[in-house]
Amino acid sequence: MLEIRTLYDGTGALPAPSLTKILREAYDGELFFSDSSSRPLIVGNFVQTLDGIVSLKIPGKSGGADISGRNEEDAFIMGMLRAYADAVMFGEDTFRNAPGHVWTAGCVHPTFEKEFHAFRKHVGKDSLHPLNVVVSGRGHVDLDEPLFRHEEIRSLVLTTEQGAARLHQRYGATLPAMVHALPGDAALDPSNMVALLHAEYGVKLLLHEGGPTLFSAFLRQSLLDELFLTMAPQIVGRSRTGERPAFSGPLELSPEQAIWGTLLSVKQAQSGHLFLRYRV
Ligand SMILES: NC(=O)c1ccc[n+]([C@@H]2O[C@H](COP(=O)([O-])OP(=O)(O)OC[C@H]3O[C@@H](n4cnc5c(N)ncnc54)[C@H](OP(=O)(O)O)[C@@H]3O)[C@@H](O)[C@H]2O)c1
Repeated sequence: MLEIRTLYDGTGALPAPSLTKILREAYDGELFFSDSSSRPLIVGNFVQTLDGIVSLKIPGKSGGADISGRNEEDAFIMGMLRAYADAVMFGEDTFRNAPGHVWTAGCVHPTFEKEFHAFRKHVGKDSLHPLNVVVSGRGHVDLDEPLFRHEEIRSLVLTTEQGAARLHQRYGATLPAMVHALPGDAALDPSNMVALLHAEYGVKLLLHEGGPTLFSAFLRQSLLDELFLTMAPQIVGRSRTGERPAFSGPLELSPEQAIWGTLLSVKQAQSGHLFLRYRV
């Protein structure tokens, strides 16, 4: 049983109800995103500890679930965002650290799977699941992962010319995923990725699930419209070598460049988790 309670909602009046009744009750409120016409609306989603860590960087324990403490409400909100999204994007390291995972709503919260599907239909999405977009400059992506063999999920690897060549060489004619090469030696330009997703894949709402390295490149170019941030009530420290990242990864901004947000909503679970939504 979900225990989400809204403490503050500054999202304003909606043009029309968006969530289905069951999702609205579970979320204790509405969820709505306005359309953005020139490029996709980009929404980030992270869970962090009280001291700002998003990955413990311990083999087998470095994922978001280890940060949230496998919190059900956090998984539900992630599911709703995926259900709303046209595409979900993640970096190769996040992908490699989640073997067997597929970036669908039902995969994070199976109990609500049917409801998520009904919701997608209700908001007029033409596919059951969002396009899963893996980003890898070097093209070191394991295409034998179940994601690429899934009959219902469309997947896309965004990479460099060199990365695409590497994948074609490795998998030959059996290449199971769409691979799209963009200009760049090792790192792709986020604005090129966003333009491509918009123009060729019809993406209007892009859910960015990190990790910090990929996300920082988007932040550097101010390519973020909203941030959903779960605060998990634990403190884990930063480790002596400083390897544990915040969601902003290696980004370093001066006070003049700092990115400020406007609080849109605050929700709470009985477990003490807080669910913050910012417009950036
Ligand atoms: N708590 C949370 O909410 C949360 C959310 C997401 C992830 N995580 C965790 O964060 C960790 C991963 O984060 P991370 O920062 O190490 O890695 P990441 O951002 O997931 O992936 C890094 C890799 O993505 C590719 N990449 C990133 N930016 C790129 C660009 N501009 N162009 C082309 N390729 C690019 C590169 O792949 P190649 O080296 O192949 O070129 C790079 O090595 C994992 O432990 C994951 O579980 C936590």
